[in-house]
Amino acid sequence: MTKNLFEIKNLSVHFHKNHHLIKAVDQVSFAIPAGTTVGIVGESGSGKTTTGRAIAKIGPITSGEILFNGQSLSSFTRQQTYQFRRQVQMVFQDPFAALNPRQKVGTTIGEGLENFHLGANRHARETKIIDLLAEVGLPSDAINRFPHEFSGGQRQRIGIARALAVAPKFLVLDEPISALDVSIQAQIVNLLHNIQQQQQLTYMFIAHDLSMVHHISDSIVVMYHGKIVETGPTQLVYHHPLHPYTKALLSAVPHADPIYEQHKRIINFDSTTAVTSGHLVEKEAQHFVLA
Ligand SMILES: Nc1ncnc2c1ncn2[C@@H]1O[C@H](COP(=O)(O)OP(=O)(O)OP(=O)(O)O)[C@@H](O)[C@H]1O
Ligand SMILES: [Mg+2]
Repeated sequence: MTKNLFEIKNLSVHFHKNHHLIKAVDQVSFAIPAGTTVGIVGESGSGKTTTGRAIAKIGPITSGEILFNGQSLSSFTRQQTYQFRRQVQMVFQDPFAALNPRQKVGTTIGEGLENFHLGANRHARETKIIDLLAEVGLPSDAINRFPHEFSGGQRQRIGIARALAVAPKFLVLDEPISALDVSIQAQIVNLLHNIQQQQQLTYMFIAHDLSMVHHISDSIVVMYHGKIVETGPTQLVYHHPLHPYTKALLSAVPHADPIYEQHKRIINFDSTTAVTSGHLVEKEAQHFVLA
């Protein structure tokens, strides 16, 4: 039986903005089995990043619990938190904003090595950085270059190398391909998939829709207004969506067949009539929908 690397139980994250209560994440529960990818999809503001930040222990929690290897993040000792910071890394949507423009790529990738005292000396760290560059498909001379000298896709490879430097177990990939050309998106997804296989990593992959994530995800969590409206194995959610919001998300996925593309109907999700309250009900094995 696969064990869960993470278990998220009734997680809520509330914010106060201009005297309004924002339920950014509202009673969310799901598990992330070790070695798998969970795809989190939903429109802007649905609570994806807030969930990811809570799981990575860099964002607040209002109530609920997050277990890592069965232990609650809130019960971590200082030493456990330190180890957790190494084991859990984030990759962001906009690699340019996430990279220091005045810092050489090698320095950026090497920061984690220094922070966690990995690599015996400067030479060992430099060798490691060159290995990491090769791993993400970049030439070794990238080490002495600056972020602006690279394309968007290459910069995302740098962001991935930086995350991998500390030999993590888990990556929160927060829309890592959303800012890239469609032709580049598949390359980055393939790279992430290969790295996952080689290093037995576990991923949380955040995206707006299912167009790319379904290729890499074992299971899908669909969020809407802070709630999970549907979750299940990717094949079930992708091919037999149950919730109207998931159906709307899927209707926006580009189709390979141009005739189909021409005649397809984009379903507009009518939030006024769709059910977004209630409880998750299991419709098939592991396939839940909010009803
Ligand atoms: N620090 C904060 N203070 C106040 N409100 C916040 C904060 N962080 C997030 N929110 C609000 O919480 C809600 C969920 O935001 P979140 O960033 O998690 O959504 P998202 O699904 O990641 O959206 P996007 O696809 O645009 O990245 C939004 O209404 C957002 O404005
Ligand atoms: Mg976000």
